[in-house]
Amino acid sequence: MKFSGSHILSISQFDRSDIERVFEVADRMAPYAHRQRVTKVLDGAILGNMFFEPSTRTRVSFGCAFNLLGGEVRETTGFETSAIAKGESLYDTARVLSGYSDVIVMRHPVSGSVAEFAAASRVPVMNGGDGANEHPSQALLDLYTIRKELQHQGRSDLDGLRIAMIGDLKYGRTVHSLCKLLCLYRNVTVVLIAPTELQMPPAIVEQLRSAGHTVLESDVMEGSISKVDIAYSTRIQEERFADRAEADLYRGRYRLNQAIYTRNCEPNTVIMHPLPRDSRSEANELDNDLNDNPNLAIFRQADNGVLVRMALFALILDVVEQVDKNARDV
Ligand code: CP
Repeated sequence: MKFSGSHILSISQFDRSDIERVFEVADRMAPYAHRQRVTKVLDGAILGNMFFEPSTRTRVSFGCAFNLLGGEVRETTGFETSAIAKGESLYDTARVLSGYSDVIVMRHPVSGSVAEFAAASRVPVMNGGDGANEHPSQALLDLYTIRKELQHQGRSDLDGLRIAMIGDLKYGRTVHSLCKLLCLYRNVTVVLIAPTELQMPPAIVEQLRSAGHTVLESDVMEGSISKVDIAYSTRIQEERFADRAEADLYRGRYRLNQAIYTRNCEPNTVIMHPLPRDSRSEANELDNDLNDNPNLAIFRQADNGVLVRMALFALILDVVEQVDKNARDV
């Protein structure tokens, strides 16, 4: 794909060489993210960071990534602080805010809304999550994390990956984007563990099978996570259900803890989760007793979000080769 000036709306925009390019640039961002070097390559540039749904990691890491490249961040959080609450359309909001920003990141509860906004925007727009649809930057950081964790184990190849996805696969946009991304690789085994009502959408399962992957579906976790490199847990997406009572039907169905991990998983199985994990006792899909497990990658995964998002900004704003030229050692 041509990165310069492009919107990032779906992971389907990327081919395998694009992914390698993002990961190569993300690796180059590490000295800046770790405060060993400082760059001002985006000095004077403004990110419009618009989050109409709750977010900790995506909102803050996109903002940090832009700051680490020398740019400034203007935030809109929640409909109630935006003129959308007065009836302004996405079209008008996009026309106006794209006059104030060099790039925009947007999260919105409605599937397809970020694409609608982007169509009216005069600057590149990145999808920070649109309803249950997609979360492309999360899929990139997830795959970047998988690659790093496997490299740490001495494995160099994503082909042949074995991954279990556990939880709310119907509404979980991170797993939707990750499955689409995995279609670019070869011979992947994907174990989909969910209550029948919350299984992966059939169109995405079909995409995985069309890519030649082995797809196994189960509603039982124990036994289904015994032969995987990655156990990727997800939260029940309560905000997508009609009410809390409906979400309660599924909450707590799959709880991964140290005892279950030891009993079922291979010694090197990496545990991932896009976060937030629901730590309430009735949910607790990833128990705190895993916190000292060296294979729990959830915080390394969140840290990697900064590197990948710095890479996306540098590529889209076409400043990759200027990053080091505008830099100094700390
Ligand atoms: N993974 C993720 O999207 O987290 P936030 O909801 O905190 O942004």
